[in-house]
Amino acid sequence: MIALPDIDPSLLKLEPTSSPKIRPPSSTLIFGRTFTDHMLTIRWSSNSGWQAPVIGPYRPLELDPSSTVLHYAFTAFEGMKAYRNEDGTVRLFRPDMNMARLNRSAARAALPTFDPKALETLIKKLVMLDSEWIPNEPGYSLYIRPTLIGTQNALGVGPNSDALLFVICSPVGPYYASGYKPVQLLATKKYVRAWPGGTGSHKLGVNYGPGIVPQSEAAKEGYSQNLWLFGEDDALTEVGTMNLFVAFKKPDGGVELATPPLGDLVLPGVTRDSVLALARGHIKGEKIPGLPDNLTVTERKVVMGELEEAEKNGTLSEVFGTGTAAVISVVDRIGYNGRDITIPTGPRGLGPIAESLLSRVTDIQTGKIEHEWSIVAND
Ligand code: COI
Repeated sequence: MIALPDIDPSLLKLEPTSSPKIRPPSSTLIFGRTFTDHMLTIRWSSNSGWQAPVIGPYRPLELDPSSTVLHYAFTAFEGMKAYRNEDGTVRLFRPDMNMARLNRSAARAALPTFDPKALETLIKKLVMLDSEWIPNEPGYSLYIRPTLIGTQNALGVGPNSDALLFVICSPVGPYYASGYKPVQLLATKKYVRAWPGGTGSHKLGVNYGPGIVPQSEAAKEGYSQNLWLFGEDDALTEVGTMNLFVAFKKPDGGVELATPPLGDLVLPGVTRDSVLALARGHIKGEKIPGLPDNLTVTERKVVMGELEEAEKNGTLSEVFGTGTAAVISVVDRIGYNGRDITIPTGPRGLGPIAESLLSRVTDIQTGKIEHEWSIVAND
């Protein structure tokens, strides 16, 4: 069998806009509502493989009404961020992980896979072309949304003969409308986000749309997001836009930082992986100021009963979510079984573990601390 062409950055057609938009001040940005001047598009077909990439003006897509994405939800996507320093250096955070995850999602959704390095190269070119759009105020960045959709004109249900990969960029500040204040979660078991053998661990559009009704119901009760539970014993899984970490004080005076294990129910978050690696590094001697010395880090099943028990005993010390959009967001309240579990947040609104990990992650992302995860896009 002859291999079909993969994505080839050397074939890039660069068509810069002739009418750049006016950039709004960062303080007015609402997450994901403002888009930069350009986008990347790459078409694929089962006969010819990946075609020449194009970076051109940001514009509406033209889709036939029979396109498979519109009927059968063929959408895989990623969330990644670019950061700009005062000296103009632009950095991406662990883009290799996003490329690998998009390929994994594509394979699960019967969409074409691609050379991850080639897409990363093209994303760097797009980000550099729109680098003026990257806000550099603390807490602000450029959110990058690579998206892969099925575009075959067909109502029959089957694998796609045509697909479109596109990348758009949006200057952003905090994900939550409350800004960087703690968020409140409603532990939800009336609805299920993911199940064994399902698609919950893949970044597919189908995992997000159906969460809106539960989220609106939670919002009516004063909670920002749902905390998805699974199983008879109400095990924590994830929040839908964040992975979740819980810190428990231990009888020996130590602290356990626990997060639900990966598997079919949990998205393998890049920030989740980074937080685990940094906390484990701290235990091994790569000390992070502010993290307790006697820390243990576990990926294990955590059930709601443990949180209730720990709240009662005073051993529930912190809860926070991690995600590309949310970065590290502190949780101060979880609604469960008709009452609220209250979580301490400390005088500055975030506990010591969340605070020190947030500062280490953002220092790496913005290049304040040199790290192999921080990839310079200007190269
Ligand atoms: C992300 O953190 O990038 C996400 O995908 C969350 C979201 C805005 C869907």
